[in-house]
Amino acid sequence: MGVNLSLPKNKRKKTKDENSIHSIDDVSKKSSVNSEQKHEFNYIGGRKFYDSNVAPYVLPADIEEDDRIHQQHFALKHICGGNYTAPIHDIIKPGSRILDLGCGPGQWTLEIAQEFPYAQVYGIDISANFPTSIKPSNSHFIVGDVTKGLPWEDNYFDFVWIRYLFVGIKDADWQNLYHEVKRVLKPGGILEQHECDGLTENPGPKLKKILYHINEGLTSNGLCFRLACQLSERITMAGFKNAQPSYISTALGRQGGKIGEIWAANLREGCGAMKPWLSKLAGLTDTEYDLLIQYIFDYEIEEYSVYHNHHIVWARKI
Ligand SMILES: C[S@@+](CC[C@H](N)C(=O)[O-])C[C@H]1O[C@@H](n2cnc3c(N)ncnc32)[C@H](O)[C@@H]1O
Repeated sequence: MGVNLSLPKNKRKKTKDENSIHSIDDVSKKSSVNSEQKHEFNYIGGRKFYDSNVAPYVLPADIEEDDRIHQQHFALKHICGGNYTAPIHDIIKPGSRILDLGCGPGQWTLEIAQEFPYAQVYGIDISANFPTSIKPSNSHFIVGDVTKGLPWEDNYFDFVWIRYLFVGIKDADWQNLYHEVKRVLKPGGILEQHECDGLTENPGPKLKKILYHINEGLTSNGLCFRLACQLSERITMAGFKNAQPSYISTALGRQGGKIGEIWAANLREGCGAMKPWLSKLAGLTDTEYDLLIQYIFDYEIEEYSVYHNHHIVWARKI
């Protein structure tokens, strides 16, 4: 089982460690999507989106969105009190391997590579928006669609990390992906996944309207709006053991203090990122949409004490 990614035999003799590190080119050639292939994108309202026939991802694949994902990373790190919750210090040893599925611009991957300089850290994403040269030497990024099989051999990784992929992986593809994660994890290895609930708690009427249409848009792309609330069931169904679920609530806006304001600003930008398709679904002109979002984030989230849940689960392959 699994794809053998050993380097070509005609290359100079490499150490065992070197042989286990695959360059972007080596792995991308084996991936179903690689940087040579032309993705089909649609440009709507000045933003770049995947054509839904290529990927159901509902957020843009452009530089503005990379900036938002970076900001989101630092906010989540603060909200969660760090970059992971599982006891990975017990399993990450010299030579261990860590995988970040849907790594985006790669901030988590880079920080983990710095925290565990004696491990090899891999990030994979359908978009090549990660750094290619200025990065720790133990970090490796490849382009690939994770729903098309993971291009590593069985029992390869000690820790697999997934965060905020519910906006890109179809409901019907999650179980296969979890089985793939289980295949590439070593026995005793850990999967940790973080997803935010698509719904917010205590929404006012205007936020409810937008959430209704976001759900509509995600569902029509085959995505699961409330995946966050089903993580431990799904992971357990795939054969992982001792799933440890939890969630953290963040009050949005001033009521949540500085982090509440930052998180609300990030969600507001997320609404801006979805505007090209979401305004159409909601039957609003650009101006009407902007005014609605302004009303929600300037007034409604405070008035209704809106909060948002970030769900976390980690489990082991036994
Ligand atoms: C919301 S971003 C989260 C990025 C990162 N995990 C984080 O938390 O900072 C979702 C990422 O998933 C990637 N993605 C979506 N569908 C994918 C797929 N089928 N295979 C690989 N990556 C995918 C997107 O390109 C995007 O970078």
